[in-house]
Amino acid sequence: MKSSRIPGFYKMPIEERIKIVKEFAGLSDEEAEMLLSFNALPKDIADVMIENVVSCMQLPLGIATNFIINGKEILVPMAIEETSVVAAASNAAKMARPDGFKAKATEPIMIGQIQILNPSKDAKEKIMENKEDILSLANAQDKILVDLGGGAKDLEARWLSNDMMVVHLLVDVRDAMGANAVNTMAEAVAPLLEKITGGKALLRIISNLAIYRLAEAEVIYKKDAIGGEEVVDKVVKAYEFASLDIFRAATHNKGIMNGIDAVAIATGNDWRAIEAGAHAYAAMNGYKPLTTWKKNDDGDLYGKIKLPLAVGIIGGATKVHPMAKICLKILGVKTAKELAEIMAAVGLAQNFAALRALATKGIQAGHMKLHAQNIAVMAGAKGEEIDVVAKKMIELGKIRMDVAQEILKEIRKK
Ligand code: MEV
Repeated sequence: MKSSRIPGFYKMPIEERIKIVKEFAGLSDEEAEMLLSFNALPKDIADVMIENVVSCMQLPLGIATNFIINGKEILVPMAIEETSVVAAASNAAKMARPDGFKAKATEPIMIGQIQILNPSKDAKEKIMENKEDILSLANAQDKILVDLGGGAKDLEARWLSNDMMVVHLLVDVRDAMGANAVNTMAEAVAPLLEKITGGKALLRIISNLAIYRLAEAEVIYKKDAIGGEEVVDKVVKAYEFASLDIFRAATHNKGIMNGIDAVAIATGNDWRAIEAGAHAYAAMNGYKPLTTWKKNDDGDLYGKIKLPLAVGIIGGATKVHPMAKICLKILGVKTAKELAEIMAAVGLAQNFAALRALATKGIQAGHMKLHAQNIAVMAGAKGEEIDVVAKKMIELGKIRMDVAQEILKEIRKK
């Protein structure tokens, strides 16, 4: 049986890592070559993805190992510029083995908002009386989605002030992120809503606060796997800090999003939409952490995450960007729901790793090696020099540009 537990993966040469990932995910020779090329987005595709293209902005793509999610071994591709995130996720996933994470997601229901100005006083009742007509008109815009079991399913209407109302079109977007389908439907039903309410429709757009498209993940960290009951208590206290203080909660949630965004970017998903949804959700009852951590009766650590995750596996960059396609293949997901479940588990793991590090040895120790390597590169170190300069700076306890330059000068003299 294949396993995402790959001891020493971080020490292997890139070629060896690619070989392992290729075998794990059943990648083709071309896909493996594309990974190795470090150049996955062709000019002609980039040129039609956005406007005024002049080049590509590349990010490193790493693989988080050790994940077991809903009993399945999973390698997680993560695209991110920040050191330690991939290592922290892998380490947190390792400590959760052999049980791993349990995750689930709701049906993929997105909200399309139609703002109505000056509607009649009985507008809300009238909208509900005409619900079937409004939904049919919405569904006439996307026969394919309806054939797949998706489409507009329900309506909500709310007064926002004496002269302003918002109508929510609830759309099951299946395996898409859904913005296109929802926006098209919202625009299509607006004239009918004007007729029904006597008002004027203004904005017609998706809401990124996707409260009906939630993903959850849970984990139990056995106390002995994470450094004892003392560490359990410290992580719980670290969580309590975030739940009591918005300044800490923002950073706590940022750490969660380190993991979630990295998977979103690797799979070509709209991470700004995910960020907006996550933070607005966190703020619904006063800004709170997106995870909770408790000590259970056995003295082990129980963690849970819940947040909106509007992610797709069809459409947009997920299907156009060759690297996003490879990353989805590595993840082995068949539905957007599965992708959301994995992302929730990664967010939870990332948060655990951060809290454990912060509550014990501090975050800087783990950052040092790659940080030192970065400084060495900035100082001009090449090839094998990078490691030598980085190690020397760590030994000296001085990770600075001037020190790196000095060491580099020394080793080049020899
Ligand atoms: C850094 O990118 C993320 C952390 O600040 C998260 C946290 O403080 O929980 C380490």
